[in-house]
Amino acid sequence: MSILKTEQKEVTYKGIKELSVLDNVSLVNLEGKGLLGKAGIDARIFSVMAASKISVSIISQGSSERGIGIVVNSERAEEALQGLEKEFSKELLFGDVSKVSVDNNIAAISISGQELSTFHKLYSSLIKNKITPILFNNIITGNSVSLVVKKTDLKRALNVINVDIFGLTKKINIAVFGHGLVGGTLIEQILNSAKNIEVRKGIQLNIFAIANSTKVVINQVGIGENWKSEIANNGKNYTVQDVIEYAKENHLENLIAVDNTASNEFVGNYINLIENGFDVVSSNKIANTLSYNFYKEIRNVLEENQKNYLYETNVGAGLPLIDTIQLLHLSGENITKIKGVFSGTLSYIFNHFSVENKSFSEVLKEAISLGFTEPDPREDLCGNDVARKLLILARELDLQNEFNEIEIQNLIPVELRSLTTTSFLNNLQLLDTHYKSIKESQEPGNVLRYIGELSGDLQQDKGDLVVKLVSVPANSALGQLKGSDSIFEIYTESYGERPIVIQGAGAGASVTARGVFGDILRIIDKK
Ligand SMILES: NC(=O)c1ccc[n+]([C@@H]2O[C@H](COP(=O)([O-])OP(=O)(O)OC[C@H]3O[C@@H](n4cnc5c(N)ncnc54)[C@H](OP(=O)(O)O)[C@@H]3O)[C@@H](O)[C@H]2O)c1
Repeated sequence: MSILKTEQKEVTYKGIKELSVLDNVSLVNLEGKGLLGKAGIDARIFSVMAASKISVSIISQGSSERGIGIVVNSERAEEALQGLEKEFSKELLFGDVSKVSVDNNIAAISISGQELSTFHKLYSSLIKNKITPILFNNIITGNSVSLVVKKTDLKRALNVINVDIFGLTKKINIAVFGHGLVGGTLIEQILNSAKNIEVRKGIQLNIFAIANSTKVVINQVGIGENWKSEIANNGKNYTVQDVIEYAKENHLENLIAVDNTASNEFVGNYINLIENGFDVVSSNKIANTLSYNFYKEIRNVLEENQKNYLYETNVGAGLPLIDTIQLLHLSGENITKIKGVFSGTLSYIFNHFSVENKSFSEVLKEAISLGFTEPDPREDLCGNDVARKLLILARELDLQNEFNEIEIQNLIPVELRSLTTTSFLNNLQLLDTHYKSIKESQEPGNVLRYIGELSGDLQQDKGDLVVKLVSVPANSALGQLKGSDSIFEIYTESYGERPIVIQGAGAGASVTARGVFGDILRIIDKK
């Protein structure tokens, strides 16, 4: 098999199949409703071509005969146009032919040895890469196919076709936005596994862009192990549109954008990314917790553009939670309740506070020093993060709840809510009396847990979403939770009172990045 040399006008790939490219051709198009059912139109077109000795390489015509397209050498296209305008001057005058036009921005690709019965896979790969063939034509024996594509799509189309028909390594072009704890770990995990995945699966993972809130480093042949110094020394100011344009200009196929930010603003780029051929993977929860209208809008745009958006790490980090809930729901299993400890930080705090002889502020300080909390721990204690996760699960069940409909028990006493971060951190002991009295008022043998609970009639449009501090028996599933683990109990009609339980590390850069990597691989499987 030979490699495409773009300066050549015609290139042939040899293998089981044969691929040839004509890139100095134009499409001459004759359109009009007056062509419908009229005999002799093709004969008149070909007589014009024959008279000028213009050879036609492809002809395509719908059975309704409303349009006929012919592909001719670009140098002869103007002549063909004039000839046809003259021949059909009467039809043009009376509107039977609405227009005769020439499109020079095209290239023709012919694949011989391509069975039509397996062509759908290749066609779908082209569409997923935003290449919609302008014309499609096959010979009657069904083993040769010609496609006319925009010249600007040619290189990307050839990349996709080569992988599909010659089984070449499939290149996946990844842009990573956010290289903090999760993003940075993900980049390392991808770089470490790339060789192995290429050998085992024939997939080349190519990170072509790495960005933070202000800088990007971008390279179509891939960014390697020096990415940190690259971004520090050569990072350039950018907009997301610059990354999109770069991918277009360099004909990058199989695009995936990974959002490892916690940015509201970045979410505003999703629709543009999807419309420009990117699948999206996100550890950022925000897109799924804005208004229900936006939630639906993203899914409509994904559908229109045949793209995927995966976010398994939005709830329970690397735990296979969203996938499980999606499968149960899709298979018609009636989920009746979801309940659990959704926050690793609050899991740690209450697991320790409940059984140790320490004040609340002592345990909170431990959590802060272990790096489990946000810089201002009130972001964890206010319950919004748990509420977001609960809303994401509810929406997986097609419930249309909004964030402001969630009943959230804020763990910060009212008088401490308006303090500055520093002043709050200097006065953590002010939390102690409040939590001491809650701890002491429990039934003997009980422990405290901060839970999210989705209940109600989940067949309706909306469910009941509650985030609250509860006291549960120490020997119950929730009561036995340890360390900073998360636990999710999924109650369904078939499983009755014995829920499906998913439990494990529900936070941490390493498990979260692994979950994001899993989503990337799932998307590749669909490509
Ligand atoms: N850590 C966990 O255990 C865990 C678990 C599950 C989910 N998550 C989610 O994972 C995401 C990342 O968490 P993290 O712990 O890695 O956060 P992090 O360490 O604070 O990193 C955030 C990264 O995002 C970048 N960023 C911020 N705004 C941006 C923008 N508008 N455009 C491009 N990049 C932007 C930041 O760049 P600058 O430095 O320029 O601001 C930084 O590189 C969050 O949404 C978090 O909720 C985390």
